[in-house]
Amino acid sequence: MQKQPIRFLLDGEVIEIDDVDPTRTVLEFLREDLRRTGTKEGCAEGDCGACTVVVAELDRDGSDVELRAINSCIQFLPTLDGKELITVESLADSDGGLHPVQQAMVDEHGSQCGFCTPGFVMSLFALYKQNARPNRREIDDALSGNLCRCTGYRPIIAAAKRMADHEPGDDWLRQPGASSASTERVERLRGLSRDTSLTAGDGERWFHAPLSTAELAELLAEYPDATLLAGGTDVGLWVTKQHREFDRIVYTGKVRELTRLAVTDSHLEIGAAVSWTDAMPLLLEHYPLLEELMLRFASPLIRNAGTLGGNVANGSPIGDSMPALMAVGTSVVLRSREGSREVLLDDFYHDYMVNELAAGEFMETIRIPKPVAGTELRAYKISKRFDQDISAVCAGILLGLDGDTVRTVRIAFGGMAATVRRASQCEQALAGQPWNEATIETAMRALANDFAPIDDMRSTADYRLRVAQNLLRRLYLETRGDTVSLYEYGRAG
Ligand SMILES: Cc1cc2nc3c(=O)[nH]c(=O)nc-3n(C[C@H](O)[C@H](O)[C@H](O)COP(=O)(O)OP(=O)(O)OC[C@H]3O[C@@H](n4cnc5c(N)ncnc54)[C@H](O)[C@@H]3O)c2cc1C
Ligand code: FES
Ligand code: FES
Repeated sequence: MQKQPIRFLLDGEVIEIDDVDPTRTVLEFLREDLRRTGTKEGCAEGDCGACTVVVAELDRDGSDVELRAINSCIQFLPTLDGKELITVESLADSDGGLHPVQQAMVDEHGSQCGFCTPGFVMSLFALYKQNARPNRREIDDALSGNLCRCTGYRPIIAAAKRMADHEPGDDWLRQPGASSASTERVERLRGLSRDTSLTAGDGERWFHAPLSTAELAELLAEYPDATLLAGGTDVGLWVTKQHREFDRIVYTGKVRELTRLAVTDSHLEIGAAVSWTDAMPLLLEHYPLLEELMLRFASPLIRNAGTLGGNVANGSPIGDSMPALMAVGTSVVLRSREGSREVLLDDFYHDYMVNELAAGEFMETIRIPKPVAGTELRAYKISKRFDQDISAVCAGILLGLDGDTVRTVRIAFGGMAATVRRASQCEQALAGQPWNEATIETAMRALANDFAPIDDMRSTADYRLRVAQNLLRRLYLETRGDTVSLYEYGRAG
């Protein structure tokens, strides 16, 4: 296979890179190759936001441009192919005049130290371009992936409230809200799009970006050891933290069928390469009680890159999507050169980080049943911090009551075993029983027979079991209208 250069836009110029290292990060490229050092490295694992940049690409119908802030420290450079990269240096105008977001940061004394500030500015810039007059909750969410370790957030939040007060000027990057991009910008991005797949790389190392599932299946049949890459928010850390080397990366982000969202009579169908940001509106339209879980899933920076498919395929026992997906009976469509098969998520995980995917096989679609009338899906995430934290325990519970009798119940837990899995004994203790305190007590005891959790840095086994049992009680109280979650309390305030 002939290797090609990757191409993307930066400050109006087309950057073309031959012999690209498949796992070089965007941050390394900016700082070490371009010496564009406004973008900082803090943690190199997607946690602190010092490395925040914004990526612009054509929207789904190719008629406008959408902007997404991401963590450049874990994003591999070849994934920029066909897109536009915007860094903190891109914001000031040609005369050096500050961007409205930068001016607001200056005015409110939000520019505190040189490490976190560029990242905060870029997250605020992305927010400004979506919604220049955000409310407090929107500001908190937009900044949840940017950490300040010394002074505080108050002046930055004040800047976020004031960013639309400044004269924007003519340039699209300075226009507040989701104003349409110029035809010229759209055309330039169209000019970079490919109608054949990309094969890039250096030396013996390759980065493939197929455009269809048929091509992807052929590639994986030929190279079953290749590493599949979607948003890279797990894979990126294997490189930056574990220093693993990969000779062959196969990127799913350009595969048409994998980036599709569809709704059938019975299911929501989410392509395995659809980002969390794109999947969330559809999921919340049908399962509104998942809102808190989804907003607490990492940060917008991670959700803009990371995918639901990557979360399910990675299969961490503390992955947040699987308990709720299992509770509603989700299945995954697996595909290879030989054809497709559909597997219930309940049967997908075999053991710690071991799943049903065979060599040469990939996940194509996640099929989530539509809600059944009279049932409700709730999810609970227990972690030390509200935002941007990994769960100690995560639960997904589907409950349907017939009067005061439990008609439907499906419960799955993460953080309680080597894989996310159903709590079958607990379910049996609830099914067909009266929905009352005594039944909940019995179900809480049954849960201790379902799981023998472990001690680790996130929590002790004892805490995990106790908190999981208490989640059942919380569910009961919520159905009685006796509680209000901290999240709902915050919304009301
Ligand atoms: C700072 C930070 C915070 C995080 N917070 C959370 C959190 O709150 N909750 C949570 O659950 N996770 C969290 N994560 C983990 C991660 O963001 C999620 O698991 C994410 O959904 C992974 O998706 P991705 O597209 O980035 O996957 P990638 O990193 O691209 O891939 C993950 C795995 O899936 C495989 N894969 C990808 N696509 C396919 C496919 N189509 N077929 C087969 N295999 C495939 C890859 O080969 C790899 O093994 C966090 C990560 C970071 C860095
Ligand atoms: S350097 Fe910390 S998130 Fe990238
Ligand atoms: S880390 Fe920069 S001001 Fe706190």
